[in-house]
Amino acid sequence: MDNNAVLEGQRALVTGASSGIGKSIALGLAGAGAKVVVNYRAGGDKAAQVVEEIKDSGGEAFAIQADVSSESEVQEMFRQAVQAWGSIDILVNNAGVQKDAPFHEMTLEQWNAALAVDLTGQFLCSREAVREFKRRGMVPQISRALGKIIAISSVHDTIPWAGHANYTAAKGGVKMLMKSIAQELAPEHIRVNAISPGAIKTDINKSVWGTPEGMEGLLKLVPAGRIGEVEDIAKAVVWLASDESDYMTGETLYIDGGMMLYPSFRTGG
Ligand code: BGC
Repeated sequence: MDNNAVLEGQRALVTGASSGIGKSIALGLAGAGAKVVVNYRAGGDKAAQVVEEIKDSGGEAFAIQADVSSESEVQEMFRQAVQAWGSIDILVNNAGVQKDAPFHEMTLEQWNAALAVDLTGQFLCSREAVREFKRRGMVPQISRALGKIIAISSVHDTIPWAGHANYTAAKGGVKMLMKSIAQELAPEHIRVNAISPGAIKTDINKSVWGTPEGMEGLLKLVPAGRIGEVEDIAKAVVWLASDESDYMTGETLYIDGGMMLYPSFRTGG
């Protein structure tokens, strides 16, 4: 672990941290000196590996199973985290799912499943985190903030996406949930920001980058000419969680290789 660790003494909870972007965020926060709760819903063996990886590099972590869309499971997760470490200073709302379907075929189950995890999950975890930040009170030696919440959203909180109406509705909701609570909580020194990744190489979009044709089509949408890596997101999470970004709240960092820049206009228009 880095001796100049910017998150030394802080305690973080990362949802959906057994794989993909969440895993990288958990490793990144631990590398910066934070203790990390590795939340997962399924795949306890993978979560255990993330915990081991953190411990092997001198960090502290443990895993908690909880479905972020369940109020009682989220409350129990926070209870366990606070019992273990005294409090939580950083929440990263990373857990997310896609339940894709053409709109006319989308079932209520698919709609509800995406909204439950991608939006309600962020509400439930943020609410518990804020309750805990207020209960604990300010600890100036640890951070200038009472607490930090980082919402992992998507470029699709802004870019419409055919065949994914449930996902885009949820991510659009995340954007305004983040901004509204940032506004509400700024006077109490709770910072709430979002990161909106573009195409990052994980299992969620493997069907696209996994074939040469899929990758070729994808890269037409990315002016930077490469798919993102999970570390591209984790590095920014560490910064947003630290006092280095103390004056920033209610904002979204789009980390997308330029996907938000209307790439088709490079040659059209
Ligand atoms: C989705 C990915 C997609 C990316 C860019 C993400 O939010 O989960 O499947 O590749 O947006 O379109």
